Amino acid sequence: MSGEDLSALPVNEKYEPIKKLRETWRSSIEDPEGFWAEEAKQLDWFSGWDQVLEWKDRHARWFIGGTLNASHNCLDRHVATWRRNKVAYIWEGEPGDKRIITYAELYREVNRFASALKELGVGKGTFVALYMPMIPELPVAMLACARLGAPFTQVYSGFSVGALAERTRQTEAEVIVTADGVFRRGRVIDLKGIVDKAAEECPSVRKVVTVARTKHDVDMTPGRDVWYHDAIENTPEKYIAPEPVESSHILYVLYTSGTTAKPKGAQVCTGGYLTYICSTLRWAFDVKEEDVWWCFADIGWVTGHSYIVFAPLALGLTSIMYEGAPDHPDPGRTWRMIEENGVTKFYTSPTLLRLLMKYGDTWPEKSDLSSLNLLGTVGEPINPEVWRWYYTVIGKERCPISDTWWQTETGGFMISPAPGIELVPLKAGSATFPLPGIDPVVVDEKGTLIPEGEKGYLAIRKPWPGMFMTLYKDDERYLDYYWNRYPEAEGDRFYTGDYAVQDGDGYFWLLGRSDDVLKVAGHRIGTIELEDVLVSHPSVAEASVVGKADPIKMEVPVCCVVLKMGYEPLPELAEELKLHVRNVIGPVVTPAAIHFVGNVPKTRSGKIMRRVIKAIVNGEELGDTTTLEDQAAVEEVKRVVEAYNASLE
Ligand code: WTA
Repeated sequence: MSGEDLSALPVNEKYEPIKKLRETWRSSIEDPEGFWAEEAKQLDWFSGWDQVLEWKDRHARWFIGGTLNASHNCLDRHVATWRRNKVAYIWEGEPGDKRIITYAELYREVNRFASALKELGVGKGTFVALYMPMIPELPVAMLACARLGAPFTQVYSGFSVGALAERTRQTEAEVIVTADGVFRRGRVIDLKGIVDKAAEECPSVRKVVTVARTKHDVDMTPGRDVWYHDAIENTPEKYIAPEPVESSHILYVLYTSGTTAKPKGAQVCTGGYLTYICSTLRWAFDVKEEDVWWCFADIGWVTGHSYIVFAPLALGLTSIMYEGAPDHPDPGRTWRMIEENGVTKFYTSPTLLRLLMKYGDTWPEKSDLSSLNLLGTVGEPINPEVWRWYYTVIGKERCPISDTWWQTETGGFMISPAPGIELVPLKAGSATFPLPGIDPVVVDEKGTLIPEGEKGYLAIRKPWPGMFMTLYKDDERYLDYYWNRYPEAEGDRFYTGDYAVQDGDGYFWLLGRSDDVLKVAGHRIGTIELEDVLVSHPSVAEASVVGKADPIKMEVPVCCVVLKMGYEPLPELAEELKLHVRNVIGPVVTPAAIHFVGNVPKTRSGKIMRRVIKAIVNGEELGDTTTLEDQAAVEEVKRVVEAYNASLE
C-alpha cells in the first residue's frame, strides 16, 4: 500500500515545531504494515502472526494467524508483575459508596465469573448480552466473556425493552447479564423488569444473571434467573485459562444507529482492535503509569468499551468509574471527584461540559483541580465557547485539550491532538490532525478531493486495525453504506457520514452528521429508527423526525406526526407518543415535541423532506424547495411549529 499519493498531507509543512508528529504520521502511511506490526508488540500474543494485514474486497483482517486473549492482556499480564496490587478502578456509586479494586481483585472476580458463565453453558462463540449500569460488575462481565472467547453485545442501560430485545435477538444471545437497577439522580431505575419483558421476545435466552445493586424487589424466574453473587460464590473453579482466540475473533458486536430503522451491529475483532485502542490512548492522552484516568462516559457506548475498559486495563492504568449523574446531589459532584481522587486526565462529552458550565464557575472553583494535566472531549463538535471554558476554568490554561473525533465503527480515536507524540498548537473546536496510520480526506459527492477551506464529506482512505470487520449478519449493508458510496473515485474511501473541512493549516474541523443520524446528548440516534417506532403506535399513520438545536444536548428529536382517521390531535396523545418512544427505545431519545400535522412535506417522488422540516423547526431559511410536491404541507408545518413555540413563551 506504500507509494501512494501523499500530496494531501494533512500536516501543513509550515508547522516546523510538529516535525516529529509529521514524520511519525508519514512513516505510518508509507509503511502501514511495518508500523502496525511494531505497535502490536505492546500486547501479549500466545502465537505470532504470519501476515500483518489482508485487505481484500474491502474487508480487513489484521495480524492473521496470531492468537491472543483480551482478558489475559487486561489482567493476567499485570498480576504477574508489581501491578498486581495497583488500583485498576476507583469506583463511586451515585449515593456516595466507593469501591477500590486492584488488578489482583479484578482478576479474581473475572475468573470466578468466567467460571460461573461456563457453568451456564457459555463457551467460545456463545453470545452474551449485557444490559448493565456503571458498576464494577460490568467490566467484570466483559472480561469474563472475553476470557471464554464468548462475544458480547452490550445494550446501553438508558435504552428500553424494544432496543434490548432487538439486539438480543439479532445476536441470538443465550445469557443476559443485568442488574436489579441503578441509582440515577437519587431515584432507583428498574432494569430487571425491562429485561424480563425483553426476554419474553427472545427465544434464545436461557439464563439471566442479575447483580444486586439497588436491592429493590424484582421477580426472579425459577430455572432461568440467577443472582450474580450466588453464581460467583458457588463456582467450581477459581481459575479459568484464557481461551486463545484468532486475532480476528469477535470481541464484541456493538449496535449503533444508521439511516434505516434497523440498527447496525459493528462487529469488532480482538487483535487489531486492542492494538489500536492502546496506541491511540497513548498518543491522544500521553498516558503514564501514575495517571488517574477518568473517561466520564457510559460503558454501554463505544467510548466506554474502548477507553474505560479495554485500553486502560490493557495498559495497566488506574481509572475512575462513576455510576451516576454529573450534577448529583449538586453541580459540584464531578469537580469534587476530580479533587478527591487526584484525577490527572479527564475525558468527556461537550454535552456534559455544557450542562456543568450552565451552573456557573463557582462550582468548579470550590474544588482543587490542580491534579489535572490533560483534558479531552468526544462525541460531538465542541463549540469554541465551551472549549475556552474547559480550557480556562477547568484546565486553568495549563492543560491541553484532546478533541478526539471517532465513531463506533472506527473502534478508537482517529483525528485528535497527539500530545503522546508531540503537541500541536491547538485551535478551539478543531480535532487537529489524523493520528498515525489514519489517512482522512475531505471529498465531494463523487468522492473527489476538494480544496482546503471547503465543506465536504469526511472519508478515510486506508484500513486501520481498530476498524470494525463488518456489520454483524449484514455484510451487504457494510459494503453499500461504508465503501461503495463513491464508485467513480480512485482508491478506497470509507464513508464516515460526517461533514468536515480542512483549513489552510491542514487542521480538520468536524461539522456534524451529514446523514439522517442525530446526536442527542452525545447519543447517536437514527431519525428513521424513531419514525419507525412512532409508526408502530396504533394512532400514527406517518411520522417525520428531525433534530432541533439544543443549548445543552446539541440536538433533540422533534416529530411531525400524521394521525390515522379517528384519532384526535390532543396533548394527551402527544404525551402518550413520547412515552411510547421512551418505552420502546429509551428515555435518552424522548421527543422534545410532537407536532400533529395533516401532511408531512414530501418531494414529488414521495421522499419526506426532512431538510425542510428541520429548517422550519430551527427557524432557518428553507433553501431550495422546488422539488416539493405540496407547498401547503410546508405552510402547515410552519403554522403548527410557530403556534407551539408561541405556547412555550
Ligand atoms: C460525532 C462516538 C465532532 C460524529 C465516539 C461521529 C464528533 C459520531 C466527535 C460517532 C468530535 C464524535 N467532534 N463530532 N470530536 N466525536 N463525533 O458512533 O458525528 O456514538 O460520526 O461514537 O459522533 O458517534 P458514535
